[in-house]
Formats: sequence, structure tokens, C-alpha cells
Amino acid sequence: MDIRIEKTKSPKQIPDFKGPLGFGKIFTDHMFVMNYTEGKGWHDARVIPYQNLSLSPASMVFHYGQEMFEGLKAYKGKDGKVRLFRPDMNAKRANASNDRLCIPRIPEEDFVQAVKTVVEVDSDWVPTEPGTSLYVRPFVIATDDFLGVAPSKTYLFIIILSPSGAYYSSGLAPVGIWIEDEYVRAVRGGIGFAKTGGNYAASLAAQVKAHDDGYSQVLWLDGVERKYIEEVGAMNIFFKINGKIVTPMLSGSILPGITRNSVINVCKSWGYEVEERKISVDELIAAQKSGALEEVFGTGTAAVISPVGKLRYKDDVMTINGGDIGPVSQKLYDTITGLQNGTLEDTFGWTVTL
Ligand code: PLP
Ligand code: COI
Repeated sequence: MDIRIEKTKSPKQIPDFKGPLGFGKIFTDHMFVMNYTEGKGWHDARVIPYQNLSLSPASMVFHYGQEMFEGLKAYKGKDGKVRLFRPDMNAKRANASNDRLCIPRIPEEDFVQAVKTVVEVDSDWVPTEPGTSLYVRPFVIATDDFLGVAPSKTYLFIIILSPSGAYYSSGLAPVGIWIEDEYVRAVRGGIGFAKTGGNYAASLAAQVKAHDDGYSQVLWLDGVERKYIEEVGAMNIFFKINGKIVTPMLSGSILPGITRNSVINVCKSWGYEVEERKISVDELIAAQKSGALEEVFGTGTAAVISPVGKLRYKDDVMTINGGDIGPVSQKLYDTITGLQNGTLEDTFGWTVTL
């Protein structure tokens, strides 16, 4: 794919990365854009100065939510090299979401090339402080101006970049999670496995309720029986029960997390038994009462490994590992971030150096 590059004539001041960056608040100098037109396919790949979009208010994305997004990170190691973590997996998942949402596929090699190119152009924006990275947000929106419910015939594929710190303001300190028993996020056959805005819009009411009660995020139960654990608002969830690592299986209603897959592989390489299966909230409560529940942590690109110190379900408030980060969670955090920033040798072949 040919990518035209137009550099900005008025570069912004790169912020001081030593200060708290927060998550997703600062944007770099450039963005990647590519158009899709029915009959012509994806065309006009370009890196241009970061700018506002001009869209008709009738653009279909505003009305029926036909959109897909992805999330990955670029890391700058002590060696000064910029690395991406498993971008091929994001390209594959983007197309799984695209297929579900009737958005045209993006060739995986073009997706990865687009990410690499725009990150390279803004590589000075990749922070190096511990716990920081350049968050990469690729997304596609439907742009036909038409109010009928149908797949759009035109789209924009855009990638924006945001130097970011920890997703939770608490950093690596354990978070409190609210097990939601009223609202549900997704059902099998729906769009739960796709990375698309609608899933997040559906999550907001429960998240607001959880925040009001002092919890960081919501843990969803299955949409049919409201009995089985699914995933957290922006993370997959893992439990260490009696020495085994247990995580909900991919059932079609949860996001197949790339960090989830990486953690499963790393844990297996350490000799842990990893079970991908149904786990009910009753089993979890019983495991906590008997002392079998040793650790709980979430996994995600933005959240990395996020220890859970407290889980609330109806009137039960469970404290996990005395509210402290557990040894496996800590070791996973060190290992995953070590692979990502190049301080650990990548025996898995996951990192892509620019
Ligand atoms: N589940 C949800 C709902 C998410 O938004 C995310 C974040 O991307 C994840 C799980 C974790 O996925 P990944 O590890 O690919 O970032
Ligand atoms: C990510 O971890 O990349 C995500 O997309 C989470 C996001 C919803 C903040």
C-alpha cells in the first residue's frame, strides 16, 4: 500500500512525559486516514496533520453506530527502539469486528503498515517513563449521509495516537469491581465479541452506578442467566483458584482480548494449569469463602494487568488477597510490560520493532 505523508507545518509542543499523562487526553501531531468507496475499495492512504473531521450530520455512524475500533500501544525501550505488541492480532480482530458490522475488511498487512507508518512519523511522542506508552486507536466509521438502516457504502479508516499513562488513576494499586446484577452488556449472537462503540454505550449506566458507589469498573454477568462471569468494562478477567488460573471461555459475548491470550500463554509457559471455562458468580463466592480464591486480576491493553482488591456482588463484598496485589499478578505485570518495552527477551515472537 502506498501511503502519502504530509507533515504538519506547526508541530505542537510535546508535553513533559514526567508529569501524570492520564489516559487518552493528549493527541499527537499526525493521524492516518484512508477512504473506502464501494466499487473502488480502500484508497487514498495518507498520514496528515492531526485535525478535525468535516462530516455531514446525516453520516450513518451518528445514527446507527456502524463503527469499529481497536486499541494497541507503542513502547519506547531503554534502547530507544519503538516496539508494537502483537499488532497482527489487532488487525485480525478488527476484521472480525468489521465482518459482524458489515464494514469492509482491511487487509491485515495494510492495517499493520498503517499503524507502523503513523507511529514512525510521531515516534518522538512515544513516552519512556515507566508505565507510559503511546496508545494507538485505529477506528472505522460509516460516512454515507443517509438515514436508512443499511450498511454504508463509504467509510473512513483513521488512526490517532495518544501518549498515555495508567488507565486507572490508582495505577497498579488494586481496584474495586462491581459485579452487575441488573444491566447486561451482551448476549451470544449479538455484538459482544466485536470492538464497537455500541457495547461501550450499553455499559455506561452500570459504570456510572458503580462509580457512584466507589468502584472502578463493572464485571458483567452473562446476559441470559445472569449467573456466569463474562468480563470487565475494559478488561478480561482472571482468577487464581486453588493454584489454577481460571478465566471465562470465549463464548461469543466477550471480547477476545489480546492481553488475555498473552497471559494464558505466559502462564502456561510457567507451568500453570489454565482453564478457559464457565465460572459462575456462586462458584466465585464459595471460593472466596473457603479461601481458595487467591488472586483476581483484569487484563487489557489500556489496563495492562490490573489487580482486583475488592469485588462486590449484591450484599457481599469480597476482599481479595487482603486488598493487595498478588504475586502472580505482579509477576505477570512485570513480564508483559518487560516484553512490551524490550527489557525481557521476547521468546514468544510477539513484539514488532519499528
Ligand atoms: N474487554 C473489553 C470490553 C475491552 O474493552 C478490552 C480492551 O480492549 C479488553 C477486554 C481487553 O482486550 P485487549 O487485551 O485486546 O486490549
Ligand atoms: C483498550 O484496552 O485498548 C481499550 O480499548 C479499552 C478502552 C475501552 C479504553
